[in-house]
Amino acid sequence: MKNLIPSYVRVPLIFAVVFAGMEFFIDSGDKPAFIKYPMVSLFLGVFLFLLVAIEIVISAVDKVTYQLLTEEQKKQLEEAQSISFTESKFYKSLTRSKSIEQEADVMLDHDYDGIKELDNVLPPWWVYLFYGCVIFAVVYLVRFHVIGDYTQKEEYEMEMMKAEKEHEEYLKTAPDLVNVDNVELLTDDASIEEGKKVFEANNCFSCHGQNLQGGIGPNLVDKFWINGGGVKNIFKLVSEGSTTNPVMAPWKEVIKPADIQKLASYIISLEGSNPKEAKEAEGEIWGEKTIEVIPTEQVEIVTD
Ligand code: HEC
Repeated sequence: MKNLIPSYVRVPLIFAVVFAGMEFFIDSGDKPAFIKYPMVSLFLGVFLFLLVAIEIVISAVDKVTYQLLTEEQKKQLEEAQSISFTESKFYKSLTRSKSIEQEADVMLDHDYDGIKELDNVLPPWWVYLFYGCVIFAVVYLVRFHVIGDYTQKEEYEMEMMKAEKEHEEYLKTAPDLVNVDNVELLTDDASIEEGKKVFEANNCFSCHGQNLQGGIGPNLVDKFWINGGGVKNIFKLVSEGSTTNPVMAPWKEVIKPADIQKLASYIISLEGSNPKEAKEAEGEIWGEKTIEVIPTEQVEIVTD
């Protein structure tokens, strides 16, 4: 039987499997492991080098031993190598199929208008698969229906508990994760300045005006708010978009929560700045002390 997989397929294949394994098992966050950890790249490099070296050595050894064989042995080897996979012993042991010349041995005497029937044995690969299924079924039956190890509901709950723990762990390592429940107004100059940059970078000006005086979108620096003022409402609106006016799109896929917090803080820092050509007020006066998030149903829909 010939070498089934040539070395130019074998080497990349083994390398790809090891590479995929490393990426799968090494937790490297949003970057691939071989970029984040230089040791991984180094290991992969050495591994590839060794793979190629081993292939070269093996083929050299093969060539040398071939030269040492006698003429007769060479012939035997060539004969052995010229057998195809479907003629190999391994393949035959899996199928136990009869060749056409041997069909007379298994021919039954059923003859339906010339259509004859062979009494072939079940192929061993199928039989062993079947036995495997039976064993699996017995183990499953005893484990879950006789002993009652755990039910699907319990399994679901265990998975959920595990996920919750993982989520908690994740939150611990991501302390600056901001959401609508814990978002707070930032007043330090650096954050406000960054908020302005985010505002610029995402072209919020195009609809709300260079000085936030309003344009396509409402004036953001007066006391009037359509969707409620205060850091929480603004954070929610910019993240989720306006429910009443799709022109104000949700930005949470584009801007990180921490940056939306800065955006909101920047907007609030400009309140009362009275820019030129301010757009007329829309919505309702938002009391300074009220910072609760108002439920969407209560938001008044204002149409011009
Ligand atoms: C395509 C135009 C457009 C862009 C771009 C835009 N907005 Fe708006 N924005 C609007 C419109 C229209 C509304 C009014 C929504 C409503 O009526 O509910 C609005 C509403 C708002 C409100 C609430 C105002 C209120 O009175 O309730 C805030 C805050 C806001 N936008 C911030 C932003 C920020 C921050 C950005 C950039 C990330 C941005 N917008 C980008 C059009 C836009």
